[in-house]
Amino acid sequence: MGDKFYQIKSYVKHYFMATRKGHNVHSPFAYKLCEEVFYNTSVFYDFQILIKLRNTLLKDETDLSVEDFGAGSQNFKSKKRKVKEIAAKGISPVKQAQLLYKLVNYLNAQTIIELGTSVGITSLYFSLANKQAKVYTIEGSNELSLFAKELAKNNRVLNCTFINAKFDLALPQLLSELDSVDVLYVDGNHTYEATLNYFKTAKDKCSNDSVFIFDDIYWNKNMTKAWEEIKSDATVTLSIDAFYFGMIFFKKEFKEKVHLKILL
Ligand SMILES: C[S@@+](CC[C@H](N)C(=O)[O-])C[C@H]1O[C@@H](n2cnc3c(N)ncnc32)[C@H](O)[C@@H]1O
Repeated sequence: MGDKFYQIKSYVKHYFMATRKGHNVHSPFAYKLCEEVFYNTSVFYDFQILIKLRNTLLKDETDLSVEDFGAGSQNFKSKKRKVKEIAAKGISPVKQAQLLYKLVNYLNAQTIIELGTSVGITSLYFSLANKQAKVYTIEGSNELSLFAKELAKNNRVLNCTFINAKFDLALPQLLSELDSVDVLYVDGNHTYEATLNYFKTAKDKCSNDSVFIFDDIYWNKNMTKAWEEIKSDATVTLSIDAFYFGMIFFKKEFKEKVHLKILL
């Protein structure tokens, strides 16, 4: 309940402080992002397929035995969960998933890591956004990971690797095998320590073109604290706070740090 109050209060503040539709965004790179990603209303062909798939998941009665990982599991008490319940409460909304698709597509991202597969919907948005990209998605729950893998196979998605492990173990291992990470999407285990830890672990593999995205930065005070610390890291030159998630960029051509709050 405390968190809900914090979320509403933060949203009201965000609503009044955020820029709209790219107004007053002076950085050409950030302005282009507003045009091509945040406020780009184009409908991609894949979106129809992905909406149909989401609607199928919303009716899927399959029972999965799901372990509770991280801090984001307050909607569920039992271990048995129906796919339709997870799809209704535990995955990124359509607008956000489409925005991630547009981001990958616009940046032509090649190496994408998602922390938190769940039923695998955002993994498919990433995979379809750039069919040449390599997507790695990590999920602690075995049955969820298997379900997501099957979903990808049934939809002939071949560029996604499903890793069933805890983030703390799998992320350093995966990073050690990669030259760099273009997109990191942190969508699970919303605690201060874990969020900062994933950032610190992954930032060694960021390039000038990388973007890291942190979901639920106003989930509670501690998540906002983690977000503030991440933004202030010396390697971060641009941050975009979209309330539901925050994005950071490492572009060296930015002579001064730019912090934007945008209203979606
Ligand atoms: C919000 S869901 C991911 C939703 C997915 N990205 C989407 O939008 O379709 C978060 C997932 O992360 C997993 N998770 C949370 N903490 C984890 C951890 N420490 N290690 C591995 N998996 C974890 C949970 O089991 C859950 O399925």
